[in-house]
Amino acid sequence: VAAGGLALLLGLAGCGLVPGSVTPVDDVEFTNELAIPPLAPSRMVDGTRVFSLTAQEGTTELLPGIETRTWGFDGPYLGPTLRAERGERVAVEVANDLPEATSVHWHGMHLPAAMDGGPHQEVEPGETWRPTWEIDQPAATLWYHPHPHGATEKHVYRGLAGLFLLDDDASAAADLPKEYGVDDVPVVVQDKMLDDDGQLELSDNGSEPGTLGGIVLANGTVGAYHEVTTERVRLRLLNGSTARTYQLGFPDREMDLVATDGGLLDAPVRLKQVRLAPGERAEVVVRMEPGETTRLHSFEADLGGVVVPFAMGGNDAFDVLELRAADSLTPSPEPAWTPSAHADHDTLRESEAAVTREFELDDRHINGRTMDMGRVDEAVTVGDTEIWEVRSIVPMPHTFHVHDVQFRVLSVDGDPPSPELAGPKDTVYLEPNRTYRLLMRFEDYTDADVPYMFHCHMLLHEDEGMMGQFVVVEPGQDVGTVPEHDGDA
Ligand code: C2O
Ligand code: CU
Repeated sequence: VAAGGLALLLGLAGCGLVPGSVTPVDDVEFTNELAIPPLAPSRMVDGTRVFSLTAQEGTTELLPGIETRTWGFDGPYLGPTLRAERGERVAVEVANDLPEATSVHWHGMHLPAAMDGGPHQEVEPGETWRPTWEIDQPAATLWYHPHPHGATEKHVYRGLAGLFLLDDDASAAADLPKEYGVDDVPVVVQDKMLDDDGQLELSDNGSEPGTLGGIVLANGTVGAYHEVTTERVRLRLLNGSTARTYQLGFPDREMDLVATDGGLLDAPVRLKQVRLAPGERAEVVVRMEPGETTRLHSFEADLGGVVVPFAMGGNDAFDVLELRAADSLTPSPEPAWTPSAHADHDTLRESEAAVTREFELDDRHINGRTMDMGRVDEAVTVGDTEIWEVRSIVPMPHTFHVHDVQFRVLSVDGDPPSPELAGPKDTVYLEPNRTYRLLMRFEDYTDADVPYMFHCHMLLHEDEGMMGQFVVVEPGQDVGTVPEHDGDA
């Protein structure tokens, strides 16, 4: 412990970062080049695009001079960016080199439940899982992360996460910065706290949302900068934190919100800040002048009236990423596209909703229940359009995520949704005591025996049982038998 403590002191002298701090500091120097997750290689096998991912242990210098034990896919921390086109069949060989079972869930993906990578598809150490499905949804910034029963927070916190980008004809035709890692830049925002030995231990620091840390990372880089060479840069923002909610924007300029969780908006929306809760994504386009510098900042978040004595993961203000524009910038187009090309979500019609379901969240329950892997909470008929009315009845932050679908927020307490909630969504922050009416349709895939999940995406909450299961069945079909633990047989 003494040696570890000393290393911390030596490594951190002068950089403003406190390993064990809960609250991010605002005097971090932005001197580290932003790491860009590599694009994952793939090979074509009988018309299927095949990727491989290996979950493994490693060490990472999250802070200078400190070796932190981390987990990652194909490397010590985070994972490569998977990328595929609408209409392609993909397969992923998911190998587990960890000392314990994990799973890989494709967050935001429309796919059969058996391929979803939730707690019913855990991969034992030394084993490989091979899901395959057809990409059949609009271009979007999706992501992947583990979802093992009761241990999702730990696995994500240690570093297991990556992006899964989808392209389609409309995104190809759109006027948007598109060069990956250059002017189309993934930014996975996470916060960490290190213990006295410089390790990532989830601590019960009494914070209601889960562990909050004072070390803010972009793609695993602390104090990151990105060299901008174009007049506009597109940031694909993912809140990959387990607990903290961010309010992201630039103090000195507005940005164009171009996409939410599930894809492009009908049209760009000029705004100052975007609130991102764990699991949510937003794509924004930022304008730069030659030679200037600006910083992506997390503002004190408006959490919708959540006021508690302890840090709630939103009441802090700090910088996340520095953008440095070169002295001469390559021209790039104003964001624009034809809305009709992204009409998928317009086909969702409230008037066609056949079923309305209500979900009430308290401290750790949804409709009074906690997660039971052997219980199906909801059975949905394939092809049905449904309204899910979701409400947090306690004054603490929660989110709501539904697997398999992208939904549309119809209203928040009767009011129209804000721009950041007006596009396709799969995860939404729940301001307390407000009713979110979500419109969604369950298409294509039925399986009476394998459930999808719905849950709070604050991962401590999820692990503590704030999750339920739904199956999608044929009209008139009965719910099957959902095994309490798969893979034990
Ligand atoms: Cu991103 Cu069920 O999770
Ligand atoms: Cu929650």
